[in-house]
Amino acid sequence: MKKKLYIETYGCQMNIVDSEIVVSILSEQYQVTTEMNEADLFLINTCSVREHAEQRIRKRLRELNALKKRNPYLIVGLLGCMAERLKEQLLNEEATLDIIVGPDAYRTLPQLIEEATIGKHGVNVLLSKEETYDDIVPVRYDSNHVSAFISIMRGCNNFCSYCVVPYTRGRERSRDPETILQEAEILQQKGYKDITLLGQNVNSYRWNDHGKEIYFAQLIELIAQKFPNIWIRFATSHPKDISDDLIDVIAKYDHVCKHIHLPVQTGSNNMLRKMNRVYTREYYLERIKTIKAKIQDCSITTDLIIGFCGEKEADHQETLSIMQEVGYSSAFMFKYSVRENTKAAKEFENDVTEQDKSRRFNEVLDLQQQLSLESNQKDIGKTFTVLVEGVSKRSEDHLFGRNSQNKVVVFPKNNHNIGDFVSVTITQCTPATLIAE
Ligand code: SAH
Ligand code: SF4
Ligand code: F3S
Repeated sequence: MKKKLYIETYGCQMNIVDSEIVVSILSEQYQVTTEMNEADLFLINTCSVREHAEQRIRKRLRELNALKKRNPYLIVGLLGCMAERLKEQLLNEEATLDIIVGPDAYRTLPQLIEEATIGKHGVNVLLSKEETYDDIVPVRYDSNHVSAFISIMRGCNNFCSYCVVPYTRGRERSRDPETILQEAEILQQKGYKDITLLGQNVNSYRWNDHGKEIYFAQLIELIAQKFPNIWIRFATSHPKDISDDLIDVIAKYDHVCKHIHLPVQTGSNNMLRKMNRVYTREYYLERIKTIKAKIQDCSITTDLIIGFCGEKEADHQETLSIMQEVGYSSAFMFKYSVRENTKAAKEFENDVTEQDKSRRFNEVLDLQQQLSLESNQKDIGKTFTVLVEGVSKRSEDHLFGRNSQNKVVVFPKNNHNIGDFVSVTITQCTPATLIAE
């Protein structure tokens, strides 16, 4: 009989796939349980992107002390970005932990776990220039069997001055397209209808195939041609690599979804320069213009950082105005959080007062709420195809799914099922949801 593994995942979508890879690596010895009291092994896949993310995990580790007191044989492992950032230091700080494993070292988990069973604490936080886990088939242990993520590249070379990711995930590297197609094939055979290609900068994908370069646009085209009945999504795109080729390929195929998540971070050129984002407001807006001209009904979403070092009222106003100019259909908004050892932490002063940060944050939030509502109101009366992902949380008689624009749509169940493509007409909306018939 296999031992029981309980795994908890924090942070971004990359971490969700990484957890699926970890479950695959451990699948000979362990099977996943959803009951943490019966776990032999408790893994927690962590995020370091903001202070708050780490605090949540620290709190969770304290809660695990009680579980470990009840079951002294329980092995607790910390994976992911926080493991990479804090390394063995965590073993001293968090008595609950037996092993610490960084994002590129998951293949060594079986060995580290075995050593932990005889009381030896293990740490492996080596980063790799090559590791993409491309031969490992992720175990989709927490899946709706309709949509899945495929990791196509790892790491980041951009060193935005505020960001911890290049330090926790290491250098950028892309995965062999053959293995990406194989993974998509397996998903298709299992009945999956929607894949999301993932990378920290997914559109910086680049593979050299015997002297021929394959860029992200070509990769999408390869997948689109081979899988005409699967919806293809992707995240996260960096503005610097939104090429015309990529925009054209999104426009060309109906089943390449009409949604681009394009983090702008701020509307101010001063702030963009300080953030090392390597584009200007004007460049970004030109890309948006091209997207809107070439792709019909493309939704654009973004990430925003509020209150970065030296942000003045005028910079903040530029953020508000770029939001309006683009008309984002939704956005993730964050107050700037200082991350140790980044360029911003070392060289810039975190000088926006908490009061200003909060006020600006609320102004950004309010504006986005209004933009999301406007974007959704424009859809009333339109007809969309929706891929059904589940039963609505609010009502058993309703299903929910996403359309090509990545908007959540809720509609009456009738005789439709999870995994169906259903044509619906939008009748009402909230800022977060489209309601349809
Ligand atoms: N690679 C992606 C996103 C990575 S992290 C990209 O470059 O777009 C996701 C988001 O977290 C970022 O887009 C940014 O908005 C936010 N973020 C990263 N570091 C942050 C920090 N120190 N404080 C606040 N938000 C941060
Ligand atoms: Fe962080 Fe910038 Fe890399 Fe995104 S592109 S992960 S924000 S360093
Ligand atoms: Fe967090 Fe690491 Fe993802 S820092 S956002 S889990 S890459």
